[in-house]
Amino acid sequence: MKLMGTNPIIDLKPKLSDFRTEVLQGLLKDPKKTHPKFLYDERGSSLFDRITGLEEYYPTRSEIEILEKQGPGIADYIGEKSTIIELGGGNGSKGSIFLRSVKSPVEYILVDISREALELAVKNISSAYPELVVRGICADYTNYDVMARLGINGRKSIVFLGSTIGNMEPEEASQFIGNCRRIMSHGDTLTIGVDLKKDIGKLERAYNDPSGITAEFNENLIERINRTFGCTIDRSAFRHNAFYNEKMGRIEMHLESTRDQTISLDGVAVNFRKGETIHTENSYKYSLADFRKKLEDAGLENVVYWTDSGANFALFSAKA
Ligand code: AVI
Repeated sequence: MKLMGTNPIIDLKPKLSDFRTEVLQGLLKDPKKTHPKFLYDERGSSLFDRITGLEEYYPTRSEIEILEKQGPGIADYIGEKSTIIELGGGNGSKGSIFLRSVKSPVEYILVDISREALELAVKNISSAYPELVVRGICADYTNYDVMARLGINGRKSIVFLGSTIGNMEPEEASQFIGNCRRIMSHGDTLTIGVDLKKDIGKLERAYNDPSGITAEFNENLIERINRTFGCTIDRSAFRHNAFYNEKMGRIEMHLESTRDQTISLDGVAVNFRKGETIHTENSYKYSLADFRKKLEDAGLENVVYWTDSGANFALFSAKA
């Protein structure tokens, strides 16, 4: 596929998940589990934006600190005249900071499954960099066939910011890195934002902010279930529960049933015991050594990383 023409958005019409079917299937499992992507409806996305500005939620500002302070080193590593491919870049704000240091980029390509997010990001980056060719591809970047079809010529620099890699299961994360590796040619780079293992208190505070925004973000799933299935589950029937599972190296987010209850979804009864949970998200935290190994195991070389002043977060880069 050649990216030509005047329309900056190419829509590959990704298959969207079926909330109704997938959530019901997840609630019939034991233990009950839903995919973290379901936390991001319109309200969930705007609550997540608020989370990124919270005092307790260090990952976003730590990553921004790295992008701002380590720009020259990152730019030297990536090299000149590359096509930047940002995967799932949200509203484009971090991409804009990243771009400040890249030397003469050829083009900036954003890939996102949400057309709305993509349009906003393309608009924001285009107005911040009027001289740069900015394109958006509406596609599922976790699908290798889609990535392979992008067919971008010349030097590539793939960027995956925001520690979204932490929301993938470790095997999925390895597969994702492997897929990126398979579309890279010699000298191309992959840059990933990774949240690091740290003091448990600090980790748990980041997912249990006293203002209750993270709880609202999690509990919004109940509202979404109510809206989608036309039911009336009481908000107080579930409460937010987030903790660090040390053995698994991850923050787990759950919705805990505050009572024995049965909810009916499309005529199917789903029973909850008091204290039983819906596991709504994992956020894996890596050590520097573990993530380096993950990149090397996927066949990438020359692994480097930059951390923020508090060593909370790392930006890793590696070459094919
Ligand atoms: C998007 N992702 C990297 C966030 C995280 O920290 O895992 C999602 C989040 N969940 C609760 N707070 C933030």
